[in-house]
Amino acid sequence: MSRRKHTPTVMVIHGPNLNLLGAREPDIYGTLSLKAIDREIKRYARSKRIRTICYQSNHEGKIIDFIHANYCGCSGIIINPAAYTHYSIAIRDAVAAANLPAVEVHLSDISAREDFRRKSLISGVCITRISGAGWQGYLRAVDILAERFDLEAS
Ligand code: DQA
Repeated sequence: MSRRKHTPTVMVIHGPNLNLLGAREPDIYGTLSLKAIDREIKRYARSKRIRTICYQSNHEGKIIDFIHANYCGCSGIIINPAAYTHYSIAIRDAVAAANLPAVEVHLSDISAREDFRRKSLISGVCITRISGAGWQGYLRAVDILAERFDLEAS
């Protein structure tokens, strides 16, 4: 049972092309739309007494601006930087600057695809990575942060 007295807020960030989920390469990324995934994340997080603010952008700078604008009011980050995972030092630096527990999520298993997807610049600033569990991976990320918040409160 959670001893938390307050309801932490977690940023859920989706990178480029994830707005096309459902239609985009469904064999790899599944058939659920981003809107439906965000609804599932919000519902599940609420059951764990976590508030979520979900954001998607196709632009690196906008993702960074979103992190800057929200990190003060947040207790954690769930981030699927999509293609930026593999080359954005700037998003990695923004997550490091936020200094919040962050979980890296990928719908597909990035270690079992093309070589260029094996490298993640974000993983060094995240507490863990969930990769290849489909959209349910976001729910696991919620679990990981919920456990951490509960531990901090106990
Ligand atoms: C992805 C994997 C990335 O390599 C890719 O560029 C994406 C999505 C995933 O969720 O599996 O856009 O992050």
